[in-house]
Amino acid sequence: MSFLVRIQPSGHSFMVGADESVLDAALRQGYAFPYGCRNGGCGTCKGRLLSGVLDYGTDLPPGLSQEEVDAGLALFCQARACSDLDVEVKEIGAAGELDIRIHPTKVQKKEFLADDVVRLYLKMPDTDRMQFLAGQYVDILLKDGRRRSFSIANAPHDDALVELHIRHVDGGDFTGYVMDTLKETDILRIEGPHGNFYLREGARRPLIFMAGGTGFAPIKGIIEHALAEGVTQPMHLYWGVRDEKGLYLGELARKWAKNLPHFQFHAVLSEASPQHASNVRTGYVHEAIIADFPSGLANFDIYASGPPVMVRAGFDAFSEHGMVQDRYFSDAFEFQRPGVTAE
Ligand SMILES: Cc1cc2nc3c(=O)[nH]c(=O)nc-3n(C[C@H](O)[C@H](O)[C@H](O)COP(=O)(O)OP(=O)(O)OC[C@H]3O[C@@H](n4cnc5c(N)ncnc54)[C@H](O)[C@@H]3O)c2cc1C
Ligand code: FES
Repeated sequence: MSFLVRIQPSGHSFMVGADESVLDAALRQGYAFPYGCRNGGCGTCKGRLLSGVLDYGTDLPPGLSQEEVDAGLALFCQARACSDLDVEVKEIGAAGELDIRIHPTKVQKKEFLADDVVRLYLKMPDTDRMQFLAGQYVDILLKDGRRRSFSIANAPHDDALVELHIRHVDGGDFTGYVMDTLKETDILRIEGPHGNFYLREGARRPLIFMAGGTGFAPIKGIIEHALAEGVTQPMHLYWGVRDEKGLYLGELARKWAKNLPHFQFHAVLSEASPQHASNVRTGYVHEAIIADFPSGLANFDIYASGPPVMVRAGFDAFSEHGMVQDRYFSDAFEFQRPGVTAE
């Protein structure tokens, strides 16, 4: 059985089967709904249900509360249609025009940037480049059908290699394999590009980048792209890590700040050691941003990437501090759930 979905305000429409999410059906048919984790956790795919009936199974996904459902909101990556639907969704122009494909890649280089962070350079076949927007991510397809998401850390003008920053997760199957076993010349299959975390090029407002841990990866790609494009508006990079060792490319960020008059870099350490505590920022990264802009965040575009808890805390705190919510762009590094497999 299938149902008709009408999208407002674009007036587009598409069919959705009873056995697929509204988001999957939209993407399959070329309608660029916003999304992030596709697991029900990050809230990026949230939109409004104007009419019709949706089903989420026994429990609501973590990214959607009962109050939001009552207020007419829906989480399209998890929602199944039970009738024809009218939905309100802001479709993405640019990312939707890109081709999502599977590419075989070869590990060209593997280097440890910190004890628990590996940088991989994946070589694309010469005849099979992947077009992407700075800040998007790829899924690495594992042999058993599972997939693992990692952000692209380089800019698209430099697309012969795909650069990834992979943090070891305690007990993590794939990230453990990357640390201990994966070697140069091994083959990895990636699918991409995915995601809506990319620089909105038309905007001329000052930019705040908030990275947590390896959330620096897509932000590095965006900043390198912005610099290549000659973007001149003020840029403020805040990188939140546990301790100094977490700033695995701190020199690069310091170099940007030294060479570019419109670029500022702030490292914010949540667990500073006593010898560092006096000369570094300490505390939570989103709180440092609020402290630095006491007159509010209304005039900024804010890009946040890293642990879901940081991304959500930033959204809530910045909203209360004058941020225009449509100007908050985020990538939450949600965990893959066991059931999520490659097609
Ligand atoms: C859009 C997106 C982009 C991402 N980009 C990056 C990136 O650029 N760099 C990067 O290092 N990571 C990134 N991540 C997170 C990354 O996908 C996970 O860390 C990875 O899937 C873990 O795989 P695993 O097989 O090692 O762990 P699993 O075997 O799947 O998990 C093992 C255990 O660790 C927990 N766990 C899983 N992931 C995490 C995590 N991220 N943090 C804490 N605990 C976790 C699980 O709940 C489980 O208990 C991204 C995630 C998303 C959704
Ligand atoms: S994409 Fe739906 S909640 Fe993350």
